[in-house]
Amino acid sequence: MRALPGTPLPLLLLLLACATSTDSADTVTGAQIDSAEDTDTGPARPTDGAGLYTMFCSGCHGDDGKGLTGKGPDITAELDRKSDDQLIDIILNGQGRNEMPAIAVSEEEAQLIVDYLREAF
Ligand code: HEC
Repeated sequence: MRALPGTPLPLLLLLLACATSTDSADTVTGAQIDSAEDTDTGPARPTDGAGLYTMFCSGCHGDDGKGLTGKGPDITAELDRKSDDQLIDIILNGQGRNEMPAIAVSEEEAQLIVDYLREAF
């Protein structure tokens, strides 16, 4: 019976402690999200075609553009068959019933990637 009257106070303190730490955790998370966004849109994003290709394309088409099994096809042959506009359209909008997703780059970045593809592959 001695434990019962004693229980509510530590419990209350515990709840208070939790509420307080939750508040400060929210603040920290907000700051972390802010700095994470800074990194995403800041210096970490490549500004050249090669870097953009590595970041957005090579995971499916390979470093050499010759494709990765089960991910993306060899795109080197397509470079001769398609215009810049067609390639940019594929990058921005995807292709083949969502088999290749639309890539979240700007039109300028897509052009940089196409320039790089024509130069490198
Ligand atoms: C998630 C994997 C994935 C990513 C990332 C990806 N692709 Fe693709 N890509 C594919 C697949 C799968 C296809 C084949 C689509 C189809 O069957 O029509 C494809 C098709 C293509 C084609 C047309 C090939 C052809 O034979 O018609 C080009 C060009 C291309 N991708 C370029 C790119 C570029 C440039 C990037 C980066 C900006 C990129 N892809 C990012 C998976 C990917």
